[in-house]
Amino acid sequence: MRIHVTVNGAERDLEVAPNTTLLDFLRDDLRLTGSKECCDLGECGACTVLVDGRSVNSCLMLAVEADASEVTTIEGLAKDGRLNPLQDAFLAKGAVQCGFCIPGQVMAGQYLLQRNPHPTLAEVREGLSGNLCRCGGYVQICEAVLAASEVGR
Ligand code: FES
Ligand code: FES
Repeated sequence: MRIHVTVNGAERDLEVAPNTTLLDFLRDDLRLTGSKECCDLGECGACTVLVDGRSVNSCLMLAVEADASEVTTIEGLAKDGRLNPLQDAFLAKGAVQCGFCIPGQVMAGQYLLQRNPHPTLAEVREGLSGNLCRCGGYVQICEAVLAASEVGR
């Protein structure tokens, strides 16, 4: 099946198998490997991307379901070679350990800040509750999202 999607601002027109997940489409067909493949069950959040501005587990969505949509992956957050404020905050707070979960955490944090620019700690925890970190760096990850929420305040 042929799909037309805009990924990180670039229009893509590609043939995909009907059973190809959005995650596999991004990683294998477009070589955007920032979104991680882990549980493939919608439980860990490592594959989180934005589709038309909404957070989705891309392992649970078929590529054909993203037809005519706008997809943003972790690779699409930096602009003109500069990290966005949330990415900067992850670095500043030392929120990255092995890094495997971080693209998904950042995308979930980005989605939260879009909807709620100044969340409380409880709201950050709730917003990131679908994203698991096997290194256990939750304190710094939440601090990073709170720090990003203060930028430009
Ligand atoms: S790989 Fe998609 S939720 Fe775990
Ligand atoms: S930083 Fe290692 S899994 Fe989260």
